[in-house]
Order: sequence, then structure tokens, then C-alpha cells
Amino acid sequence: MTTMFFCKECGFESTKWLGKCPSCNAWNSFTETAKLVQKGKKNTHHLTDHSNRAIPLSEVTFDPNQSRISSGLSELDCVLGGGIVPGMVALIGGEPGIGKSTIMLQVADLLANNKKVLYVSGEESSEQIKLRSMRLGINNVSLYLLCQNNVEQIIQEIENTDPDFIVIDSIQAVYLNAIDSMPGSISQIRETANVLTRLAKHKNIPLFFVGHVTKDGAVAGPKVLEHMVDTVLYFEGELTNQFKILRTTKNRFGSTNEIGIFEMTDKGLKQVENPSEQFIMNQNNYSGTAISCVLEGTRAFLIEVQALVSPTNYGNAQRVSVGFDQKRLALLLAVIEKNLMLNMKELDVFINFSGGIKVVEPGTDLALIAALLSSFRDKSLREKTVFIGEVGLNGDIRTVSQMDKRVKEALKLGFKEIFTATDIKVKNKNVHFHKVKHISELGPIIF
Ligand code: TYD
Ligand code: MG
Repeated sequence: MTTMFFCKECGFESTKWLGKCPSCNAWNSFTETAKLVQKGKKNTHHLTDHSNRAIPLSEVTFDPNQSRISSGLSELDCVLGGGIVPGMVALIGGEPGIGKSTIMLQVADLLANNKKVLYVSGEESSEQIKLRSMRLGINNVSLYLLCQNNVEQIIQEIENTDPDFIVIDSIQAVYLNAIDSMPGSISQIRETANVLTRLAKHKNIPLFFVGHVTKDGAVAGPKVLEHMVDTVLYFEGELTNQFKILRTTKNRFGSTNEIGIFEMTDKGLKQVENPSEQFIMNQNNYSGTAISCVLEGTRAFLIEVQALVSPTNYGNAQRVSVGFDQKRLALLLAVIEKNLMLNMKELDVFINFSGGIKVVEPGTDLALIAALLSSFRDKSLREKTVFIGEVGLNGDIRTVSQMDKRVKEALKLGFKEIFTATDIKVKNKNVHFHKVKHISELGPIIF
């Protein structure tokens, strides 16, 4: 064992301490760690087969669909890019209490219908997990439980049980004896993840790590953990909201745009296959609400945008938003102020997007402005109306990607009027398109 230093931001290694990382330029990011040296085994954990001879790519045979295993949850399969790949190592991160252990136990149970599954918990006792499984109605003979923190013991048990799927809940709770620092410390996480990843790759068993996140939302431990695994999934959403969104931030086996939507019920997580209906279920016709259509990966769904504008009572005006970027909100308020001559400086603004989803694409700008205007005038928008468009800095409205898909979703749910920046041709006679080029055109036509 030797002592090494490495960068907490990017994982760059060095034999001596450095003030500035030469790889990612972060300052004061170096930390000391004990490193297990495995001779001749450098960085082989990414590979499942090794060969010394180069072969033409055309000679490699691979059927992407055949090798995928369904997790039993179509929403999870979708975020994984079509299912679990043998030897895949994934990390599922999220705040405490969001449902990481719940989803992993559900997946373990579904896979145990025709496979042998080993669920390793370093955090909870077998009684606690039994209690959860009873709540979820799980009692599968092929689902093996191991409550253990010691990685040497875990590996021993993996050898003994020879499972087809492994869950480690959580990577911060397990440790290697060979390293004398606390479980959850950077060096422990790094080495335990490394050892377990190598084992999974060597045996070609899919392995899922559960990982806790820090306050600022990153997986606790070095960034290098994210580099080691093939796929990184994040559970997002407010703890108090029943909807939870599973998002891929890294995927060596598929696209990273996909999201899976789940609902936490008293019997565990349930898949939400028709998010539009769920997110606008309680749609009312009060002032300050507008409907938009967002696109996440390959799916489009409707969401409700709520805005509340009220006079500021003291000090600076407040800007509070749930599910929408604060900076983009400030930008849109400035656009309104300049183009519509509304004095936003003396108004508090509160924004809420339904479903607990964090919207990152610009297609909801138009709906947000409509909702703000509606709240400002205290007048409700017309029923069954959808707003889709991006708003530019000078108040111009732009079209967004995959309009056909979004419009189709709105029509499916019986919407009658659609405000966009482009002409859209559909056969449906019951729907009316309003082509708007600038936000100043909105006022007279949306109420
Ligand atoms: P958990 O999966 O333990 O979260 P994590 O592992 O991410 O910390 O539990 C998430 C929350 O969900 C917990 O507060 C209890 C609640 N819950 C339900 O509402 N219904 C259920 O069926 C289960 C199992 C948990
Ligand atoms: Mg847990």
C-alpha cells in the first residue's frame, strides 16, 4: 500500500500534493489517500474481454437487443437504454429518502423471478429490509439478502452464491479492511468501487451501486466514482412530491436524455406511463396557470406551469421557482419588463412546475410568460390551451425541436388551441393554431 494524492474534482492522481490540478485546473482539490497497488492490473476494469491482437471492427459480432435483460420495469429499461447489459456497472444516486433502496429491492425481486439475485445492504438490518419487502409484497426465494459492510466478506459471498445480479446498498457504507480509513471516505469509496467493479466485469454480472448525494446534489465521494461505472442514474424530485424522476447522466450503453417517471405509493414505486394525464390531473382554470409540453429524451408530455405575482411588501422583490432555473426566470422577467412595460421590480414572483420535474429545455418559456401575464391580470387563460415556444432576449418567440411530437401529445389529450411560433399542419379540424411571433402579441389573444 502506498500513499497517493488525487483531485477530488476529476480524479487526477499524483504522488505529491498539488495546489492546482493540472488536469481540471481546480484549486486546492488534492487529498491524500491510501492506494492499493495491484501490479499489472491497471485500468482493466472497463473491459470484459481482453485480447492482444487487433481485429477489424467488422468482425466483431454483437446484437444489442439480444444481450439486454429487462429489469421488469419498463421505465428503468428506458433510462438504461433498453435494459440491463451483462457486466454493466451502474450507480444510482439521490437524496436520502427519495426511494433508491425501494426501487432496487423492487428490481431485485422482479429479476429474481428467473435469476439469482444478491442484495447487499450495508445500511439496514435484515429485519428492516424484510419490513420493506413485506410492504412491497416481496417474498422471492431467489432473492438473497446479505447485510454486510466488509467488502472482503461480500466478495466471498458473491463467490459462494454465484448470483446473476448484484445490488450494493450503498457504496458509502462498505469498506475494505486493507484501507485504514472510515467507510464513506474518498479512499474507501474509490477502492471498494474499483474492486467490486472489477469483479462484476470479470464475472460478467450486472452490478448496481446505490450512492448518496451531498447537499449540492453530486454523488458523495470523488468524481472518479462516476468515471468508473458505465451508467449513472439520478433520482430527482422533491421529497414531498409523489412523483420521482429517474434521469441518466451518463450511459455507456445508450442515450443520456431519457427519464423514467415513478410515483411513490404505499406499496412502493409505481411506473407512470401516461405522465401528461398525471401532471395535469388537477387542472383548474384559475389565473396564473398555463399548460406546456416538454420533451425529455424520446417522450413528450404536458405539464402545468403555475405563476403567482404579488406586490412586494418589503425589501427586494422575491423570485422563487420550483422546477425551473432561477436565472432563466430572471431573464424572462427582464424580457417582460422591457417589452410589455410591466414594472416587475415591485412584484414578488413565485413559479411552480407540476410533477416535481426540473425543466431544462426552453419550450416552456411561452407558457411561463402566459402564466405570469394571467396572474398579473388576475384573469384565467382559456381552457384547453397549450403554449409551446422559446422566448428570445428581445421578446421574439421561437420554435422548439420536435414540434410534431409535442402537438400530437396535446391533441391526444383533447387540447383545442395551441400557441406556437410556426405553422403546423394537422388534419384535425377541432384544433386551432395561433401563430405568435412576439410576446407583445399575446396579451389580446390569450384570455
Ligand atoms: P427508501 O427507498 O428507503 O429511500 P432511500 O434508500 O433513497 O434513502 O425510502 C424512501 C421513502 O419512501 C421513505 O420515506 C418511505 C417511503 N416509502 C413509501 O412511501 N412507500 C413504500 O412502499 C416504501 C417501501 C417506502
Ligand atoms: Mg436506502
